[in-house]
Amino acid sequence: MEIFEDIEKVFNEKFGKTDTQKFFSPGRVNLIGEHTDYNAGNVFPCAISLGTYALVAPRSDTNTRIFSMNLADKGVIEFDMHGLKYNSAYDWANYVAGTIATLEQAGHKATNGFDIVIYGTLPAGAGLSSSASLEVLTAVILNENFNFGLDMVEMVKLSQKAENEFVGMNCGIMDQFAVGMGKKDCAILLDCNTLEYRYSPIKLGDASIVITNTNKPHSLVTSAYNERRKECENALKELQAVKPDLKALCELTNEEFDEISSCITDPIEKLRARHAVRENQRTLAAVTALEKNDLQKFGQLMHDSHVSLCEDYDVTGVELDTLAELAWTVDGCIGSRMTGAGFGGSTVSIVKNSAIEKFKSVLENGYTKKIGYAPSFYVADVSEGTHKI
Ligand code: GLA
Repeated sequence: MEIFEDIEKVFNEKFGKTDTQKFFSPGRVNLIGEHTDYNAGNVFPCAISLGTYALVAPRSDTNTRIFSMNLADKGVIEFDMHGLKYNSAYDWANYVAGTIATLEQAGHKATNGFDIVIYGTLPAGAGLSSSASLEVLTAVILNENFNFGLDMVEMVKLSQKAENEFVGMNCGIMDQFAVGMGKKDCAILLDCNTLEYRYSPIKLGDASIVITNTNKPHSLVTSAYNERRKECENALKELQAVKPDLKALCELTNEEFDEISSCITDPIEKLRARHAVRENQRTLAAVTALEKNDLQKFGQLMHDSHVSLCEDYDVTGVELDTLAELAWTVDGCIGSRMTGAGFGGSTVSIVKNSAIEKFKSVLENGYTKKIGYAPSFYVADVSEGTHKI
C-alpha cells in the first residue's frame, strides 16, 4: 500500500530502520440515531475508509515513542507504558495513553513499549471519530502483540472507558463500536442497551454517501455534550417517579413518552428527552425503510432527525443548519442531516451520483457566502473495522 511507503520513510527518519507491523483503524459516519446511544437506544453508523494508519515496532524496554505525521509540530511524544495518567504534554497521544492505561487497569498489562508513526486521513474536528479510531487502534495493537485474547467488543468497551475516564468525554459506545466492528458495505444497527447488533447492507443503487465538513474551528464539544447527557439524566429521574421500572429514555415509545412527559418540570429537559425517544423510534423506522429499498422514506427520516437535533436537542448551529438546508434544496439529494455529536463537524447526505457535482457547488457557494469559509466534501466508502494489515 502506497500510503505505508510514506509512513515508512518518516518512521526510518524518526526511529531508524527496523521490522514494523501495519495497522488501519477507520473513522465512522452515523447515518441516523444521534444522541441515542447513552440513552440506551439504537444507532445506525458505519465505518469509513478514511481513518488512521499506524506503523509499529515493539521495543525492548517499556517506553513508547509516538509521532503523528498530521501533527508534526507536536514532535515525538514519549511515555512509559505503566501507570499512565492524563498529561496535557501528551496532547493528542492522550487517546493512546488512555487506552493503554485502561487496558492495564483491566489486567491487560503491556510488557514492552513501541515506536509508532501515525498517519490519519480523517480531517480533525470533522466529527468522524478520529479519537475513537485511535483508541481502538491502540487496543488492537496491544491485543495483537501481547495475545491478551480480547475480542473486538471487549476492546470497544475498554476504548470507550478510556475516553470517558481518561479523557473526560462522557460519550456513549457508538463511535468505538462502529470503528471496531465495521464491515465493508454494511451499516450496523446497534442496540446500545443490550449491545445486540446486526449488519445491514447499504444498497444505495445509483447514490452515494457524501460527507460535508463544516470546517468550523474546534468548538467546546466536550462540555456541551456532557451537559446534554446530564439533561437527559435529569429528565429520566423525573419520569422514573411516575414509571419506577423505567431504566432509560429510549425504552419509551413516542406515545408512552407523550402520556407521561408532563412530569418533566424543566421545559428544556423535556425537549431533550423528547428528541431521544423520537430519534430512537425514527432509527428503527429508517432501517426498515432502507432494508425495503425505500430510500425516499430513509431520506425523509434523515431530514426529520436533523430538525429534531436542531429544535429539540439544540446541537446543530448555523454551520450544520446551513449545510443541511442547502442540501435539502438539491434535486437528487435523497436525505441530509448532521452526524456525530454536532456543534460543528459534518453532515451526512445520500446523493444520486449524477447530482453530486451540483450538490457540491450548491453547498459550497451557499455556505461560503453565509459562513465566510468553504466546506469540504468526501464521498465515503464503507469500510472494515480496525485490523492488522
Ligand atoms: C459523539 C459520541 C457518541 C454519540 C454521538 C451522538 O460522537 O462519541 O457516543 O453520543 O456523539 O450521537
